[in-house]
Amino acid sequence: MNDRAYMRLALQLAGKGGGWTAPNPMVGAVIVKNERIIGQGWHERYGSPHAERNALAACTEPPQGAVMYVTLEPCCHYGKQPPCTDAILASGIQRVVVGSSDPNPLVAGKGIEILRAHGIEVTEEVLREECEQLNEVFFHYIQTKRPFVVMKYAMTMDGKIAACTGLSKWITGEEARSHVQKQRHRYTAIMAGVGTILADDPMLTCRLPDSRSPIRIVCDTRLRTPLTAQVVADAGQVPTILATCCDVRDRHLAYESAGCRIVVVDEKDGHVDLQQLMERLGDQQIDSILLEGGGTLNWAALQSGIVQRVQAYIAPKLFGGETARTPVEGAGVPSPSDAFCLKNSTVTRLGEDFLIESEVVNDVYRNH
Ligand SMILES: NC(=O)c1ccc[n+]([C@@H]2O[C@H](COP(=O)([O-])OP(=O)(O)OC[C@H]3O[C@@H](n4cnc5c(N)ncnc54)[C@H](OP(=O)(O)O)[C@@H]3O)[C@@H](O)[C@H]2O)c1
Repeated sequence: MNDRAYMRLALQLAGKGGGWTAPNPMVGAVIVKNERIIGQGWHERYGSPHAERNALAACTEPPQGAVMYVTLEPCCHYGKQPPCTDAILASGIQRVVVGSSDPNPLVAGKGIEILRAHGIEVTEEVLREECEQLNEVFFHYIQTKRPFVVMKYAMTMDGKIAACTGLSKWITGEEARSHVQKQRHRYTAIMAGVGTILADDPMLTCRLPDSRSPIRIVCDTRLRTPLTAQVVADAGQVPTILATCCDVRDRHLAYESAGCRIVVVDEKDGHVDLQQLMERLGDQQIDSILLEGGGTLNWAALQSGIVQRVQAYIAPKLFGGETARTPVEGAGVPSPSDAFCLKNSTVTRLGEDFLIESEVVNDVYRNH
């Protein structure tokens, strides 16, 4: 096996931490001696030992003289865990192969410098793009302090997210819906507008075994969410935030006693100010959001520049109906040349359905 093959294995290990490590990155490490893998590990949960230490602890023979493959530059600062560079230096590892460098200002190349200064050979940027892609949330959050937002919707091939009656269960098949459940586990929070709560009364939880449910966020300018809504009723079990412009304390109390948290933000164009909301959620260590809103909130989110990625699940069905809802509504752009452009699209087949994923070209943080 060559460097790339071992790094690919380290990437697979890193992915096992998906949904558990936020706001820290997913990292995998493989230790190889005399062409044999003698240790492997990954960052399993936020606050637990890092991949490098787990791989060293799992070694079946002494790691002196071995090569370590690690998907992200080893850390060199004290956080919840001591620096990984110390563990590598103490282990006698001779060469370290790194996937991507760590944009965290506390590391940013210093981890690699320390290793080199102590005589360890370091090879950088092996499968760098794949390693960066794996941690796109972490890279975005550490640099902007705002959550990475993924706009997700399921639509028919004629672009409808509900039938003309408003009924939307189900558009896609089981395979696509179970893929959505995995996304809910992977991202820290899920967000919808009060329109979706009123229309569908969704749970917005992750129902997979061995998974966690995301924090639920409802954008509700005037607190119209019914106290009987499912997201309120089980707010004691699944954290729920109501983002509102209503600062009347008495109106908060019933929601708070049901277990909801209220985040009051300024009003912008008659609704919750989404950019300010992202700032507030980022301060609360919410590093990523799966936006599962209707067309109204989706348009507002795109327009305010807070969306980084789009996931469109497309079912080979046609609903028709001029009043049937579509994934992005609002006023719309006046001309095709004003479109929100997407790039680096991928297509995945999920049973009879398709998932198209793209990056948003002009999000607000990249414009600045
Ligand atoms: N197929 C799918 O993937 C999917 C997913 C979700 C929803 N849906 C469908 O979409 C329909 C509901 O659509 P919708 O557009 O009413 O729901 P929505 O986008 O989830 O909610 C819209 C509401 O969000 C509130 N809001 C708060 N802050 C906002 C902001 N900054 N900008 C815009 N709105 C903001 C507004 O009311 P206030 O200002 O009064 O708070 C607005 O009326 C339902 O039929 C549902 O089934 C389908």
